[in-house]
Amino acid sequence: MRSTVCLAALVPLTWGLFSCTKTTPEASAEVDPPIVDAGPPCPGAGIQKGPWVAGVTRTSAIVRWETCGGARALGIKVAVGASAAVAVAGTVAEFTLTESFEAPLAPKAPKDYAGPVWTHEAVVTGLNAGNCATYTLDGDASKLGAFCTLRAATDEISFVAIGDTNPGLLRTGPLLPFAATATFKPDFVVHLGDIQYYDSRLETWASWFPVMQPLLSLGGFFPVLGNHEFENSTDFSEYFMRYFAKTGFSGTDRWHSFESAGISFIILDTESPMDDASEQGLWLNATLAELGARKASDDYRGAVVGFHKPFLTCGDTYDNPGLLALWEPRFVAAGVASVLMGHMHGYERFDHGGRPWVVTGGGGGAIRDPSQNMTRAYCTERTKGGAYYHVMRIRSEGTKLHMDAVDDTGAVVDAFDAPLLRGPKSL
Ligand SMILES: [Fe+2]
Repeated sequence: MRSTVCLAALVPLTWGLFSCTKTTPEASAEVDPPIVDAGPPCPGAGIQKGPWVAGVTRTSAIVRWETCGGARALGIKVAVGASAAVAVAGTVAEFTLTESFEAPLAPKAPKDYAGPVWTHEAVVTGLNAGNCATYTLDGDASKLGAFCTLRAATDEISFVAIGDTNPGLLRTGPLLPFAATATFKPDFVVHLGDIQYYDSRLETWASWFPVMQPLLSLGGFFPVLGNHEFENSTDFSEYFMRYFAKTGFSGTDRWHSFESAGISFIILDTESPMDDASEQGLWLNATLAELGARKASDDYRGAVVGFHKPFLTCGDTYDNPGLLALWEPRFVAAGVASVLMGHMHGYERFDHGGRPWVVTGGGGGAIRDPSQNMTRAYCTERTKGGAYYHVMRIRSEGTKLHMDAVDDTGAVVDAFDAPLLRGPKSL
């Protein structure tokens, strides 16, 4: 059998520096190991990406995955708590990817091939607030995950925050075992953007998913948009939107909010305008005004805001004092407990206005200099900073959010609290 073999050049690379030649198995044996490029491989049940949970409400959850062959709708088996698993039918939509992408510096990495793929979705309904469930995919029970529905204001919550994941650099995967522990079971993951890095030339979406599966299987995966979600003309439209959008959250596919355990999560898009007159600004003003009006209500405990490019950082990226000045007073008025940001590849915590503003951009992208711009005026408010690969474990505890920044050895490198307006609502 003949196959097509692509050999990567060992010099600084562009897509055009790859050559593909037909060869025989004998010839390919001279290459250790051979790099077979005979089109998109599609073994077994063809489940090539996921599963992951793209959205949850108090009564439902959206499970998605992608297959590389066949248009037959598959389902899942869902077990809520200790109950027996039940079948939930799925739907499938064929999608044609218009371009192929590869990882020039990691030629063994699976490619993102142009051509048809099938995006599957199973919507689990009829649940109650705070239900936690496990699920497996039909066709391959080794493909599994978990989720919790959004919780009532009487409950507490745990979640993970991580930013700037670049698993091709081999520093993201070692973090993921520390996203959950025997005593920390997160409901969902908030990703602070720059989810996958074609630009690193070390990964593709096809190589990203297997490494990230331990995180994806923990619970809902709710990303903000970063600049690396727009690395080429199809990254946002054909990948991000298909994987993580259309979740039903309040807002749009680029910015939205949801609420669990009486805590509002506000997901913003720093790749879109955020001024008062912008579509996002109008939405954010309205959302913050609604929360502000609820500050005396016992079913509202505060908010967490997440976005990618930091308004304040002492590291080696731009800050945005204009947006800081514009939005911070409104965050305070709305009861925001903490702001989580990414983009700067490192860790920073500011005690700004009595609440922590955290740069959590150490999810695996090459760590940069988190202290390159310490002359910025607000850097006197930075209480912690470092070149840490890390993941954040966050949980509500009565009248506070407790946050641990955990590095890739499992060590807690920073631990602190953010003030909530109140504890859980009384039953
Ligand atoms: Fe970024």
